[in-house]
Amino acid sequence: MAPTYTMAGGEGPNSYSQHSTYQRALLEVAKAKINGAVSSKLDINLDLNRFNIADFGCSTGPNTFLAVQSIIDAVEQKYPKETQDENIEFQVLFNDHSNNDFNTLFKTLPSTKKYFVSGVPGSFFGRVLPRDSLHVGHCSYSLHWLSQVPKGIADKNSPAWNKDIHCTGFSKEVVEAYHNQFMIDMGSFLKARGEELVSGGLLFLLGSCLPDGVKMSETMKGMLLDFMGKCLHDVAKEGLIDQEELDSFNFPIYPAHVAEFKKVIEENGNFTIEAFEKISHANEEFPLDPNFLATSHKVSFGGVLESRFGKEAMEKTMEFIEEKCPKILPQLASAKSGMQYFIMLRRN
Ligand SMILES: C[S@@+](CC[C@H](N)C(=O)[O-])C[C@H]1O[C@@H](n2cnc3c(N)ncnc32)[C@H](O)[C@@H]1O
Repeated sequence: MAPTYTMAGGEGPNSYSQHSTYQRALLEVAKAKINGAVSSKLDINLDLNRFNIADFGCSTGPNTFLAVQSIIDAVEQKYPKETQDENIEFQVLFNDHSNNDFNTLFKTLPSTKKYFVSGVPGSFFGRVLPRDSLHVGHCSYSLHWLSQVPKGIADKNSPAWNKDIHCTGFSKEVVEAYHNQFMIDMGSFLKARGEELVSGGLLFLLGSCLPDGVKMSETMKGMLLDFMGKCLHDVAKEGLIDQEELDSFNFPIYPAHVAEFKKVIEENGNFTIEAFEKISHANEEFPLDPNFLATSHKVSFGGVLESRFGKEAMEKTMEFIEEKCPKILPQLASAKSGMQYFIMLRRN
């Protein structure tokens, strides 16, 4: 089985829960869009007054609590209490890999929450909920993680061998391998959600993708991954990482292009694209602050690096990122824009 990569757990200074304001900014601006969408596009039969919401790739919170509350507020506004024989009861299903820190998620649930809670461990590339049971699904900043490093990428004898640590966008063979894996994975995600969602239910997808024609390494996020790759090589030169091991190391991440997203949704055929928009948020790009950049890399990628190369090598890489980062700030400032997306799909 391919290894799974989760965010840093707990509530400490280097945890995802303390260091995910960048992602939260998008959820904050999406609230109004979610409200409008639920009001005008949700079209379900609510006969039992039970409403199921799932957040796919929820991590530890608090962002997931904000996301589900936005959906609940919108549903309560659409079906005011006075018009219902019985109050709607909300069941929220928090999904992530089984090695996600669900304990922190459950410990930090908002005390004011008015919903029932279940943890749903497992990969969202497969079914995690019963058929026809979900009314609204949500997934933010998660779909750039593939199920595995594509075949050939880590093999020095393959034409798709990638000497970089991610898909920079510059090698045809590497791009093709990552693209194919994305189409398989996203196809599986949509197939599973298509089975779980009731007819007329909504699926909100949010995160980072690439505008058509823009290569990952032309954007700030891509440049930062390239820079992390350089720092890993510097750590290898110090003898803390085996060079051969590093040459076969890749992140299974692939922020897809708009056209790829649209194609895979159309191929699936179960959904109507109600919205596919560029969405701007206050933290549009990462702040050019070495400490922030080192911490956010540690929170998101530290676990992967530690499990592959050990704690000392991971810590040294983060130290190098913080120390050497000022040198690349001018390059980062000239990066092409990536794109934050807001996709709303309605189950046919
Ligand atoms: C950057 S975090 C996003 C967390 C939260 N949704 C937010 O917006 O702040 C990405 C999450 O996706 C989860 N994830 C990635 N691939 C997954 C998969 N195949 N199945 C379930 N969760 C997955 C990771 O474990 C991680 O918790």
